Amino acid sequence: MATRCATMLRRYCMIMRQNFSKSCEDKLNDQINMELKACHQYLAMAYHFDRADVSSPGIHGFFLKASLEERDHAELIMKYMNKRGGLIRLGTVPEPVGEFRDAMDALKHALELELEVNQHLLDVHALASKENDPNLCDFIEANFLQEQVDGQKILADFIRQLERAKSDTGDYLFDKYLISAGMHQAKKREN
Ligand SMILES: [Fe+2]
Ligand SMILES: [Fe+2]
Repeated sequence: MATRCATMLRRYCMIMRQNFSKSCEDKLNDQINMELKACHQYLAMAYHFDRADVSSPGIHGFFLKASLEERDHAELIMKYMNKRGGLIRLGTVPEPVGEFRDAMDALKHALELELEVNQHLLDVHALASKENDPNLCDFIEANFLQEQVDGQKILADFIRQLERAKSDTGDYLFDKYLISAGMHQAKKREN
């Protein structure tokens, strides 16, 4: 009975579905799960740098903000999925890396993760083009592609600046530099 009821409700969802392929729906579900993986990874990084034996409040705050931003990304896609009449399928979030040698190690890991997320966004866009779905193309372009590139530049800058600091004192000053920084702030400042 419960299954029949769920199927009927699903039909109400489907009657407004138009030009939204199953392959795009699946790919967007993968994207939601990638954003949640990034959310989880940045949360693990944030609380690694909050440990008393690590004690880097600037990097803690930076990754905590990044984690919330990734959660926002996942929810933005979930809202979009419901607008298109798709079915959200949340998967298992993989266990994040929890130990980092230093700030450089974490920043390099974050940049790798962002490049992976960006590649998947580009794949979503390519699939949407192939499926002739301009609405999905527009959604990805308007909300993700520039923000990804901006975030990747910020991470690459931080990696280079930390390389230049080289000493413990430099590391400390670098942490101060990060306190008010956010990976995805450029777009918000423009608005
Ligand atoms: Fe993201
Ligand atoms: Fe990101």
